[in-house]
Amino acid sequence: MNIIIKNSAEEASAAVAEILLRQVETKPDSVLGLPTGATPLGVYARLRQEFSKGRGRYKDVTTFNLDEYLGLSSEHPSSYAFYMRETLFRHADFKSERTHIPDGLATDAEAEAERYESLISTHGGIDLMVLGLGRNAHIGFNEPGSPHTSRTRRVALASSTLDANARYFQPGSSQPTHAITMGIGTILESRAIVVLATGREKADAIAASVNGPVTDAVPGSALNRHADATIVLDRQAAQALGAVQLLELGV
Ligand code: GLP
Repeated sequence: MNIIIKNSAEEASAAVAEILLRQVETKPDSVLGLPTGATPLGVYARLRQEFSKGRGRYKDVTTFNLDEYLGLSSEHPSSYAFYMRETLFRHADFKSERTHIPDGLATDAEAEAERYESLISTHGGIDLMVLGLGRNAHIGFNEPGSPHTSRTRRVALASSTLDANARYFQPGSSQPTHAITMGIGTILESRAIVVLATGREKADAIAASVNGPVTDAVPGSALNRHADATIVLDRQAAQALGAVQLLELGV
């Protein structure tokens, strides 16, 4: 696992944006895996900015988002489909038919999960998967206990995740308790993975993911199973990594 530590969240976001830009420059028809949440907002802001300056072309890029809440339409302001459209897709030349997100209104969630999984295969798999990390080290919506071999499926959200994400819902609006998420096994099949984590509240999840043990209890620890995984952190998120480890990293 490669670890990159930057001084600030802004610099860490810029580093991840740079990795994405180089990916689409090297392979204009790349298949990208994309996350939502607060963490990647700085990355997407950077991509918008670069696009407006003429850097980054996405018309041949295919995207697969990690997850979507069950019960929310793509027009719902708290849906991940809405988030992606508003923070990234409509600001650049993405083709809507190439941007994929599980259907939050699917009547048969398991069938939708299977469709999504096979769509990823049909596209030859994911070239570059970008991930955030939950405070309990979840990746996508793979909560602690998710097998590292899991596939795209319907999942129940942990109560700590519901609490952490309550801020994205209007007071009084109901918050979904289930989602469709790419599985950890699905994520691990990506050719390269980049994880961005920033802020003190991610430090313990990062330390547990990086230091092991590799266990289903810590979804982020599955990254140790991947041959090309990079974790990009700001100093706060790196806080709980051991001093020896930081020394080895040259920090
Ligand atoms: C959600 C998403 C994850 C994301 C996590 C962290 O639960 N399903 O993909 O990584 O939140 O979110 P944030 O970046 O807002 O801390």
